[in-house]
Amino acid sequence: MSQKPSKRSNGLLDDGAVVERILGHIRKRTTDMGAKVWREPVENYSSGKRFASELKMLRRAATPFCPSAALPEKGSYVAREAAGVPIVAVRGEDGKVRAFRNACRHRGMQVAAGTGCAKSFVCGYHGWTYRLDGSLRHIPHEHGFPGLDKGKHGLVPVHAEERLGLVFVTQDGKGGRDKTLEAMPGLIEAEQTLFACSESVVPANWKVLLEGFIEGYHIRATHKDTFFPYGFDNLNVIETFGRHSRITYPFRRIEKLAAVPPQERRVDGLLTYVYQLFPNTLITVLSRHTNVVILEPLTVDSTRQISYGLTNRGLSDPESRKEVERDAQFVSQTGAAEDRAVVSAIQRGIGTHANKHFTFGRFEGAIVHFHRTLDAAL
Ligand code: FES
Ligand SMILES: [Fe+2]
Repeated sequence: MSQKPSKRSNGLLDDGAVVERILGHIRKRTTDMGAKVWREPVENYSSGKRFASELKMLRRAATPFCPSAALPEKGSYVAREAAGVPIVAVRGEDGKVRAFRNACRHRGMQVAAGTGCAKSFVCGYHGWTYRLDGSLRHIPHEHGFPGLDKGKHGLVPVHAEERLGLVFVTQDGKGGRDKTLEAMPGLIEAEQTLFACSESVVPANWKVLLEGFIEGYHIRATHKDTFFPYGFDNLNVIETFGRHSRITYPFRRIEKLAAVPPQERRVDGLLTYVYQLFPNTLITVLSRHTNVVILEPLTVDSTRQISYGLTNRGLSDPESRKEVERDAQFVSQTGAAEDRAVVSAIQRGIGTHANKHFTFGRFEGAIVHFHRTLDAAL
């Protein structure tokens, strides 16, 4: 490719090169195409054995747990299940984010629930109290536990680190290094603030849900009156970087850039970038806001979708925020609702046993990359 100088160190094209590629596709009525068709056994969406090994993989991998902005101050915490295990992440007195297995060292009760801000974690069962660094501070009526070493009964830590504006947690092991992500500029910057957080349970396998985010082949058929009037059908830039991918969805109004000299082109409001961070996170950078979506597998056929809405840079003032919230509402109540209807229907389709394989074509190259990566990770 001749765009070498415009590639960033992580292998992704810069905005200018993305625009060039899109304008070319508009002119030629083409789209990015992958090298090969992929046939994924349908059994991989319904087998309990496969699901168990995927959960194990998720616990071995460094996976985004929440945006850093969800832990804005000392004592801010987020508690939820990750790959079937209760985990709590908290920003300590020293500003550092730590994560723990969310189980009291007395008899295993969860010491935190949901989100909030705390000075310490007090177990709701008998009141054992832990500092934000996980150490055990207080046992009520301590004389009932002669010889118990408090130093050995702190909350059990798991590896946590902040990167790209996200908190990554690795439950089993240290997560290893992901050079691709290390080479990335911050995806989410410190000044981007959280304006919404929601959760819903979708009756579909987590991979069915994920696949819907990373191809633009369905835009006209699924989103005829919502996204399609502003966008294109099957016109995407599809890039893979390391285990991850990025899909660019241009808006029709990007065509006006053809008349703008390349060095003066700005992409804000003219395209949507969707970053899929392997395994289960999607970061959608829209005109005014950024969505962080984490797909948490619950059972082989149900998934908790956790969504965080963040304002884009420079848009945290009250006036912009209203527009940001309007945008977010439009996306979630129209197009995203259509996607949810589709994925639930696909899950019911799996029960028909009509397909032995699902076939992902050359327009669905990011999905192919995902399945190839997942197979290797398992
Ligand atoms: S289980 Fe936590 S104090 Fe007893
Ligand atoms: Fe969609």
